[in-house]
Amino acid sequence: MAETNPVAPSGPAACTHRVTLGVCAGISIYKACDLVRRLQDRRCEVKVVMTAHAARMVAPVTFQALSGHPVITDLFEGSGEPSIAHIELARWEELFLVAPATANILGKLARGIADDFLTTHYLANRGAPVLLVPAMNGSMWRHPAVQENLRILEGRGHVVLQPAKGSLACGDVDEGRLPEPAAVANEAVAILEREGGLQGVKVLVTAGPTREPVDPVRFLSNRSSGKMGYAVAREALQRGAKVTLVSGPTGLEPPSGADFVPVVTAAQMAEAVRARFRECQVLVMCAAVADYRAAQSLASKRKKGKGAWQLDLEPTEDILEGLVPLKGKGQFVCGFAAETEDLKQNALAKLKRKGLDLVAANDVSREGVGFESDRNALSLFWPDGSEERIPEASKTDCARALWDAIQEALNGR
Ligand code: C5P
Repeated sequence: MAETNPVAPSGPAACTHRVTLGVCAGISIYKACDLVRRLQDRRCEVKVVMTAHAARMVAPVTFQALSGHPVITDLFEGSGEPSIAHIELARWEELFLVAPATANILGKLARGIADDFLTTHYLANRGAPVLLVPAMNGSMWRHPAVQENLRILEGRGHVVLQPAKGSLACGDVDEGRLPEPAAVANEAVAILEREGGLQGVKVLVTAGPTREPVDPVRFLSNRSSGKMGYAVAREALQRGAKVTLVSGPTGLEPPSGADFVPVVTAAQMAEAVRARFRECQVLVMCAAVADYRAAQSLASKRKKGKGAWQLDLEPTEDILEGLVPLKGKGQFVCGFAAETEDLKQNALAKLKRKGLDLVAANDVSREGVGFESDRNALSLFWPDGSEERIPEASKTDCARALWDAIQEALNGR
């Protein structure tokens, strides 16, 4: 560990936030040097941890001079004894930021491997939010192994900044660039500032589709992946809320820290929501609940070759409408609306009929957003008829903007 630099530009007294910056061995490591400065511009005190490979690309003394703190690269600093610095640092930090985050580090963090200081420190995390800024070759970025690790990390509530597109060190023009340091610093400060904004607030979120059986092996359902609802739940957790997630069947990892209630049918979802509604302060009903179910589900599998099969469908209960008489004064209810036409008109009618405080509407006829996609674009409709747009972005970013809007409404009450 190197000595503290007494002439470092920003001392703790001037700082409002404490950030650990983990630096890995990517060519974009040169931007991490500037990132220290940009974080300091935003009143962050920065302590740097480097992987051994990173320390071969840029000497730790550079980050030491910039940060004004010793740079940690090794679990066995000096004495040969393992120290507890990784725990002390976890107690100190308010944000753990990794930039650049290589494919290697994403894999280790996702799987809990702790073979150096940076990865061991990650496991010692005491609740500080984690911001990961991946940068790598475009093919590596798209590799299913990397994408799977990212899903695990996002499922844990970590924020992953999407790499930018442009010319990469390998000569390709592709996605994989580390975003500009000022943008990363902005994101870090945004996380620090909204952290705790929902501290202790009880939030109920529904997500995913429901399945309505027609016989023991077949069901009626819809294209909802659950990704939007899970992002809404993760973001609320990130902001300190106590989150219950009632979810229909999805292939997604339940966000850690949420009280997870798996359901299958619309009737089960209705029961799960009703039982928990009085307790919650905010309900975000993101689930794509089936509107119809088979009037009768067969007890045994209908054999093929029996000719045409006519199904009698009956409407399911509308969960939100059923909650209107139960709604307390302080409660805030947000519904979603997946529309293919007359977005505004339909959303406002829904707002009224279902007694909502907010409708988040998405135009599911648009290419590349909404159902099954990782991206979305939302229009928020308020009871006074006003509309606010959340432009196309990742579902994580849409969830963030949605909570910013909900928090503003709650604060204005
Ligand atoms: O009426 P529509 O299904 O378009 O309304 C969508 C909103 O209503 C969503 O928030 C959805 O979760 C909720 N909903 C419900 N019960 C249903 C169907 C939808 O609460 N049976």
